[in-house]
Parts: sequence; C-alpha cells; structure tokens
Amino acid sequence: MFRKLIIGLFIFSLSTMTMAAEPYSSSYKTFVDEIGNISLPKNYRSEWVFLGTWSIAKTDVETSSAASGHGAAGLHNVYTQRGVPEYFQQHGGFPDGAIVVKELLKAVTSSMTTGTVSRGTEVEGWFVMIKDKEGRFKSNPLWGDGWGWALFNKDQPDMTVTKSYKSECLGCHIPAREDDWIYKSGYPLLRD
Ligand code: HEC
Repeated sequence: MFRKLIIGLFIFSLSTMTMAAEPYSSSYKTFVDEIGNISLPKNYRSEWVFLGTWSIAKTDVETSSAASGHGAAGLHNVYTQRGVPEYFQQHGGFPDGAIVVKELLKAVTSSMTTGTVSRGTEVEGWFVMIKDKEGRFKSNPLWGDGWGWALFNKDQPDMTVTKSYKSECLGCHIPAREDDWIYKSGYPLLRD
C-alpha cells in the first residue's frame, strides 16, 4: 500500500514536471533543424504573448499627397512565447530557446469616431530571433551574438530569405546592443 502511494506520488510529480515545461524549452525541437535552419512559428497570434506594436509613420512624401493623409504606413507587432516575460523579469534576460517574432503589417488610415485611425491590414513578412545561450551552429551565418536570426517574406513563409545576420540584421540592431540586441523600450512586459 505504502509502496503504491510512493510510486503514485512519483508518477504524479513527473507528470507535473512535464506539464510545467515552458514552451520555449522545446524551440530547438520544433523550430530549428540539426544544422540551424529556422522555421517560422505559425500560431503566435493565438498561443503566444503579445509584447507591443511599432507604428511606422508615413514619410513626408507620403503624407503630402492628398490621397494618403496622415497616419501609419505600417505596423510591426511583436510576440514571444508564454513564460518568456516572467523569465525575463526574474532573470533580467531571455531564456535559451526564447523566440521573438515581429510581424510586419501594411496599414490603412481612416476617419473613425475616435479620430484619424490607422489599422493593420495584410501581412508583409516576419522577422524572427531565437535565443541561443550555448553558441550552437558556429558555422551557420544565421547564428551568432547570442541569437539565430531570420526574415521570412509573406510569399515564401517556409524558407528564410536571410543569408547572413551580420550583414542583414546586426548593423541595424546596434542601438539595442546593451539590451541583448532587442529594442525593449517598445515592450512594457520586458521594460517596466
Ligand atoms: C533597417 C534596420 C533594421 C534591419 C535591417 C533589421 N532590423 Fe530588426 N528591428 C529594427 C528596429 C528599429 C526594430 C524595432 C522598431 C521597429 O520595428 O521599427 C527591430 C525589431 C526587430 C525584432 C523585434 C524585437 C526587437 O528587437 O525589438 C526582431 C525579432 C527583429 N528586429 C529581427 C531582425 C532580423 C532577424 C533581422 C535580419 C534578418 C533584422 N531584424 C534586421 C531594425 C532593423
């Protein structure tokens, strides 16, 4: 009887341990193959945590044309897996396997009861970063500086168009270098 109870307790604790595994702990099984090819996560809108939006204002040229008016030319929505913000708040950084997806949306602007309002329309592509604390894939040019880096265009979501993160990503992320290359000022859950 006592033995059965102990075995039962053991199985129960094993199952709660598995249940407690954070989504980011399986990133390298789900979204990265053995040579470091990155695939685009599909269910981020319904299953992940929304971090924040960047509104890309129309340029002067665009706003001066009578047809376009003011407002946003595009919206960038950023998501990460569940559990990542909590880990970040506790440890001051991202866990291994954390993925950040930036979805690029076109925007249209119209007059609504709240004012002149821009809303996101169709997806143009996705930027993806995957946290790598172990320095995996040293000879793969999409990996380095603590992350895997990839851009996917909307007409080719199954294959990244990025050839080298050093020449296509890193330069533009230098202002965020001190924050592990992430522009965290846009994300209340990582910032406040
Ligand atoms: C033209 C400059 C530029 C280039 C090139 C660029 N980024 Fe970014 N990236 C930014 C800026 C600025 C932000 C935040 C504001 C925004 O989205 O406009 C950002 C945000 C992101 C985010 C959301 C997380 C964060 O850092 O805030 C991801 C993910 C991302 N970029 C990945 C990539 C990857 C992968 C590449 C290369 C394939 C890349 N970026 C190339 C400038 C750039």
